[in-house]
Amino acid sequence: MDNLKPASEMHILQAASLIRRGELVAFPTETVYGLGANALDDKAIASVYAAKNRPDFNPLIIHFASYKDVESYAKLTEKAGMLIRRFWPGALTLVLKRRQDCTLSKLVSAGLDTIAVRVPEHPIAQSFLRMAACPVAAPSANLSGLLSPTEAHHVADSLEDKVAMILDGGACPAGLESTVVDVSGEDAVLLRPGVVPVEELEAVVGPLRKASAKDAKKPHAPGQLKSHYAPSVPLRMNAKKPKEKETLLGFGDAPEATLNLSPTGDLIEAAANLFAMLHILDADDACKAIAVSPIPTDGIGLAINDRLKRASS
Ligand code: TXA
Ligand code: MG
Repeated sequence: MDNLKPASEMHILQAASLIRRGELVAFPTETVYGLGANALDDKAIASVYAAKNRPDFNPLIIHFASYKDVESYAKLTEKAGMLIRRFWPGALTLVLKRRQDCTLSKLVSAGLDTIAVRVPEHPIAQSFLRMAACPVAAPSANLSGLLSPTEAHHVADSLEDKVAMILDGGACPAGLESTVVDVSGEDAVLLRPGVVPVEELEAVVGPLRKASAKDAKKPHAPGQLKSHYAPSVPLRMNAKKPKEKETLLGFGDAPEATLNLSPTGDLIEAAANLFAMLHILDADDACKAIAVSPIPTDGIGLAINDRLKRASS
């Protein structure tokens, strides 16, 4: 694996210069690994879609080192300001209207008049973005339809020959994608549950509108594709016990579990382990079907259940 590099300062510097030149670089964030490309460069963005095999109606998140960089591209709203002050840098993505003079590739918006923006907190992401000195479009670094990568070798397994460099920063601490909220208009709309719990967002901006199933069919609220996070074997949720031929992915007290997301019933630990454990089960020939213990829906539990539901359809 020639292009898998420990995220030393020298490799981060090399990665930054590769990305400015239009190459693809995978890098860690506190949520999952991103497949980064220069967001000002149409060709680089096109190659992200190609590498992922991504349906082109699914737009990309643009990553910045600081909220100050966002103002040149997006129209900030009052609610955006409130969320930015409280949650950035962090695991929150905001959808905002593009500015008239926005120089980001139109391809990142996939035909919409909005852009999704995020300032991640992970120290390697931060130093990579600062050195790159360009906005970095980055979807999760997996082939479209497969699980998001939470470790560098997950990226190498599916995209190794398509990226110039993979910066290895170890396991992603949160292990689940960012929460996506549309604050381009007056209402704040939840497009994707994620690491930042809905309860914490609502404490800052009041009730969130949930994107309806109807929204999901329009290019308005994409990323709601049902089978977005599918492992290659069937998955059943809310399983008290495994059936014959099922492997149990446990939560809390689950003596029959082959792997346990969190034996103590800690939702944050479970989120961090979710994709890594699904990857392990998916790669195991002995595992023909996955059953998952019931998981509460409060806090980050909402996002865990959302990902499991997609993985089960
Ligand atoms: O944690 C994360 O969010 C990771 C890291 C790398 O930042 N990224 C990630 O990207 O999960 P991706 O491409 O797998 O998911 C991006 C989500 C999709 O659901 C996409 O549809 C939505 O954001 N999105 C992007 N731009 C949008 C826009 N302009 N309007 C509505 N939704 C948008
Ligand atoms: Mg993804």
